[in-house]
Amino acid sequence: MSGPATGLYAPLPDLWDDGHAAGLDEANLLLYRSNLLGSDLRITNFGGGNTSAKIDEADPLTGETVKVLWVKGSGGDIGSMKLDGFSTLYLDKLLSLKSVYRGLAHEDAMVALFNHCTFNLNPRATSIDTPLHGFVPHAHVDHVHADAVIAIAACENPETLTHEIYGDEIGYLPWQRPGFDLGLKLGDLAAANPRLKGVVLGGHGLFTWGPTSKACYATTLAMINKASSWLAANSKGAAFGGAAVAALPPEARRAAAAKLMPEIRKRISAGERKIGHFSEAPEVLEFVNSRDLNGLAALGTSCPDHFLRTKIRPLVLPLDPAAGNLDAVIAGLDASLDAYRADYAAYYQRCKRPHSPAMRDPNAVIYLVPGVGMLSFAKDKPTARVAAEFYVNAINVMRGASSVSNYVGLDEQEAFDIEYWLLEEAKLQRMPKPKTLAGRVAVITGGAGGIGRAIAARLMSEGACVALADIDKASLDETVATFRKTFGRDAAIGVHGDVTDEAAVASAVRETVVAYGGVDIVVANAGIASAAAFEDTSLELWNRNIAILATGYFLTAREGYKVMKDQGLGGSLVFIASKNALAASSGASAYCTAKAAEVHLARCIALEGAPLGIRANVVNPDAVLRGSKIWQGEWRAQRAASNKVAEDDLEEVYRQRSLLKRSVYPEDIAEAVYYFASDLSAKSTGNILNVDAGNAVSFAR
Ligand SMILES: NC(=O)c1ccc[n+]([C@@H]2O[C@H](COP(=O)([O-])OP(=O)(O)OC[C@H]3O[C@@H](n4cnc5c(N)ncnc54)[C@H](O)[C@@H]3O)[C@@H](O)[C@H]2O)c1
Ligand SMILES: [Zn+2]
Repeated sequence: MSGPATGLYAPLPDLWDDGHAAGLDEANLLLYRSNLLGSDLRITNFGGGNTSAKIDEADPLTGETVKVLWVKGSGGDIGSMKLDGFSTLYLDKLLSLKSVYRGLAHEDAMVALFNHCTFNLNPRATSIDTPLHGFVPHAHVDHVHADAVIAIAACENPETLTHEIYGDEIGYLPWQRPGFDLGLKLGDLAAANPRLKGVVLGGHGLFTWGPTSKACYATTLAMINKASSWLAANSKGAAFGGAAVAALPPEARRAAAAKLMPEIRKRISAGERKIGHFSEAPEVLEFVNSRDLNGLAALGTSCPDHFLRTKIRPLVLPLDPAAGNLDAVIAGLDASLDAYRADYAAYYQRCKRPHSPAMRDPNAVIYLVPGVGMLSFAKDKPTARVAAEFYVNAINVMRGASSVSNYVGLDEQEAFDIEYWLLEEAKLQRMPKPKTLAGRVAVITGGAGGIGRAIAARLMSEGACVALADIDKASLDETVATFRKTFGRDAAIGVHGDVTDEAAVASAVRETVVAYGGVDIVVANAGIASAAAFEDTSLELWNRNIAILATGYFLTAREGYKVMKDQGLGGSLVFIASKNALAASSGASAYCTAKAAEVHLARCIALEGAPLGIRANVVNPDAVLRGSKIWQGEWRAQRAASNKVAEDDLEEVYRQRSLLKRSVYPEDIAEAVYYFASDLSAKSTGNILNVDAGNAVSFAR
């Protein structure tokens, strides 16, 4: 191969901006460099790697200038971290720990001592990688998990290749779990070889250093680029042995994912409800369609960061896209998953130590499907998505390593010792209790409207993933964008469509399943209001109410119900009907009748759904003026006219009409929906909850 490399091995661009950097102090330069490095997943995976600087600071105790080590703290991600993500330690105190270190058997005890070195009462927990930065006698140190470098580090001959690529610029240390001892070795190597620019760690990644933030950044990029161009120039043969099968067309891939995901979710959600993620990136398809898929997947991942997120190996499902055996794959899922779990249990038994924590969830995280792509499952959407991103890193590593040498996965016992490391277990134990709707997926029609938005926000605040379906595209896009800012990029998707269109509703539910792996909660809410004297009610107006309200709720509920049934995890359907579903109101016969139909439909579903654990309940709002688009148009004018008041006085009219003399807000409706959506109401089905501040005409009976 000749000419500049492209794609996976294209050179990383130097993004350093001197103008921007000129205004920054040392700590902010470190942050700037960290964010630049973390912005490209080829440089380091999400949450992977760390950066540091040794900075002169005034000691708050003495006023004297001391060297302070700023180093990324435990957790966090260098791409998105802020200054508070760094821990700060007195460098001389950290170095003095060398005198109390008692050897490899006492590694874990050193972590507690890092706290004694804290500078300026910084509460950020110190990472176990801290000695790897502190003991290197250079001002700035980067540690990244670059795919191209790990590809070299995961070959069977990493030391030889490191020398071949880098000459004596970069040193080599064999695989060893990060900690105090590795920090000592790295520091010694750097001290003995002042001209070294860094070190490749076998099976792990890259350390680089420099006298300034800018120089350190430049060296990190240069060393990754060297590995990339060497890989590009030396790769032999087709990646992964060439294609064994052809990918299905995009539509068919999504359809297959939509069928498979609830089936997998049903079988792996016993301990905790799982959320799924589907990926069909080109590098994923190239791998899952390749001849070497089974062989390479079985070897497991190499970088510890990768397998902590993905488990040591994925589960390959035996789909033959040409034969179209998806149903057979689903029929065989129990056996495939049982075999994976048995294999994982055997690994646990082979490797466990006397004090190892109990075996964790033995289900696979990553599922590879030839012709279709990759599915991943975890306790929430960000974790499932990040696991998929990590497996893409692992694919890139296997691609690079197997094209120039033989790829080697991490030794099984080492992998186990990291996975079941007591410090890692302590981190898991410290995790906050999951929210009440964690792992649940909700579809909300009319999600861009006043009540729909409030429902979505309430469910997301309890940890649910939400798909908003709405016919109003502009409002939908705006709502989803706002929610992603508040609740995170993974919390919500928007599906544009008309609830009266059977195919559109089916597609909205399918898109939800592909986005999150299944459906647990369906809130039928999309609606309109209309008014007309009975004799003036046109067939068009009548049909419109029946279509959007009765039929729309029917289609939405039926499509969600089908997924819930296949998924076998129960579910909750919540209908937003109306006070007018129970109380006849003059001048709105079409609306009232359609709303009454919704209530009766919910009861019918409650009957059929009960044996499946699928509940159906109704929330009846009344006079929710704030935020509602219904109350902005013609309806508002008509209601004001029929009450003989100004439009602005309507809210007060309805307040006075209620028994409790209170206004009803979208958040009040959302609270009732949350109750029915969650397990709080596990024993309620076929019920109605009025949220109308009290109205005798609509008392349920
Ligand atoms: N606001 C109230 O006082 C009140 C009282 C009783 C019942 N309700 C019911 O509550 C629900 C929500 O009403 P809201 O007050 O939030 O109104 P809203 O107009 O603010 O929201 C309704 C949403 O549904 C969407 N929608 C309408 N037709 C659709 C279709 N065919 N397909 C997909 N989406 C469609 C709209 O675009 C809108 O975003 C409705 O069913 C309504 O009948 C409201
Ligand atoms: Zn690392």
